[in-house]
Order: sequence, then structure tokens, then C-alpha cells
Amino acid sequence: MTERVQDTAPLLGGGAGEPGVEKHSRQLAKEVLSNLYDTKSAILGQAGLLVSVIYIYYHILQNPIILFSGHPIFNLAGIFILGEFILLVQPNPKSGEHKTFSGQLHGILNTLSTVSFGLGFFYIFYNKSIHGAQHITTWHATFGITTYSLLLLNMLLGVAQFWVPNLIFGSVNNGKRAYKYHRLLGYLTFLMLTLTVWLAIASDYNVNILHLKSYFLIPSLGLFLTVLFFRLQLHKVKFW
Ligand code: HEM
Repeated sequence: MTERVQDTAPLLGGGAGEPGVEKHSRQLAKEVLSNLYDTKSAILGQAGLLVSVIYIYYHILQNPIILFSGHPIFNLAGIFILGEFILLVQPNPKSGEHKTFSGQLHGILNTLSTVSFGLGFFYIFYNKSIHGAQHITTWHATFGITTYSLLLLNMLLGVAQFWVPNLIFGSVNNGKRAYKYHRLLGYLTFLMLTLTVWLAIASDYNVNILHLKSYFLIPSLGLFLTVLFFRLQLHKVKFW
């Protein structure tokens, strides 16, 4: 079994040549993806996330799919992908090779989740515009627009640090130093996401059509959030 590397290990290309690190790519993928289910906390987190996502999709699909449906459908896909790929990078990687691979997966899929959130935004914005409805009139909408902005900001920060650190920060080390901001912003954004979903419960659409219930969503989303924060290693976001 190889030793888990420190958080300060190089992000790109690190670990090549270390004993036991050179593994077949499928084995590497299997080991990295096992972060999603190989501990009690990961399984509990999966349970909370999957139950919430299935519960909401089930209610959406009970009703005719209209233009508006794109809003919760794509937002939920974004939440699912983001949740999964935060869980993926929480444990310390076993080697530099694992760190690079999990970073690539996290980066690519979370960029995809931001595209999904972008579509979620497009559907509600377009739907309101063609019906001449006013924008940003509720707490859900206020939290939602703030969360979209945080998501975009954090995606750009992550891309800059991981893929183009020299260009944006002047060096790979400077990029790594800024990582704690990306992490902290990531956790804050996920908290905002869950609050935004919960605030949607008060919308007319939910009260009259979807019928999502707080007593179901709070425990399931709460379980996922609790696991996420429980697995957070405080030294990785320490500013002192
Ligand atoms: C997945 C469950 C969700 C449901 C059922 C839902 C439902 C709704 C409903 C019914 C509206 C129209 C009423 C209003 O303006 O408050 C709305 C608007 C809005 N939602 Fe959501 N939403 C969900 C998730 C999200 C998420 C995750 C975000 C952001 C990250 C978000 C951001 C927004 C924004 C910004 C508006 C206002 C758009 C505008 O005024 O043009 N929603 N949502």
C-alpha cells in the first residue's frame, strides 16, 4: 500500500517513478473512484445526495415536462455532479498520480456541472422573459443568483489553479497557495445550493404542482451536508 501524500505535493505530474505509483490507468481510475463509496461517511453522503436527487426528480417526472422543467432538471444534475466530485477529492490522495487523476476528474466534471447550472439558469430566465414576468422577486431567486455567481467564480478559480497556474498566478506554487480559497468557496457554495433548493419549497410552482416537502428534503440534504463538512480536513482551509 502506497503512502498518502501531503496536500502540498505537486498538482501536476507528481509521483512519476515512485515505487508502486505506476499503475495501469484502469486500476488508477478504480482506486480514485473508490473514494465515492469505500468509507462509512462516503456511503452516508451518497445516501443523502441520492435520496434528495431521486426524490426531486420523481416529483418533477410525475408532471408534464414543460419549458420551466429544464430549470430544476438541470440544476439538480449540476448538484448531483458537484456533490459527487467534491466527495471524490476529500480524502488525501494515495500518490501524486492519484492526486493528478482525481484533480482532472474533479475539474472536468465540475466544469460540466457549471454548464448544467448554466442551462438551469437559462430555462428559468428565458421562461420568465417570454411570459413578461419580473426577475429576482423571491428569496429563492436571490439566493439562486448569488449561488450561480459563486459557482462561476469558483469554477474559474479552480481552472486557473489546476490547468493554467503559471499564466494566472505566475507559478504552480502560487496556484497551490490559492487552493484553500477554492475549497472554502466550494463548501460555502454547496451550502448556498442546498438553501436555494430548500427555498424553492415556498414557490407557487412547488406548492401547487411539485409538492416537495421540507420534512423530507431537510434530513436528506442535511445528511449530505453534514457528511461533507464532517469529512472536511480543517488544515486544508486554514488561514492562520
Ligand atoms: C432543484 C430544485 C429547484 C426548484 C424546484 C426551483 C424552482 C424555481 C421556481 C418555481 C422559480 C420561479 C419563482 C422564483 O423566481 O422564485 C425559480 C426561480 C429561480 N431559481 Fe430555482 N429552483 C430550483 C433550484 C435552483 C437552484 C439550485 C438555483 C441556483 C443555484 C436556482 C436559481 C433560481 C433563480 C436565479 C431564479 C430566478 C430567475 C429569474 O428571476 O429570472 N434554482 N426556481
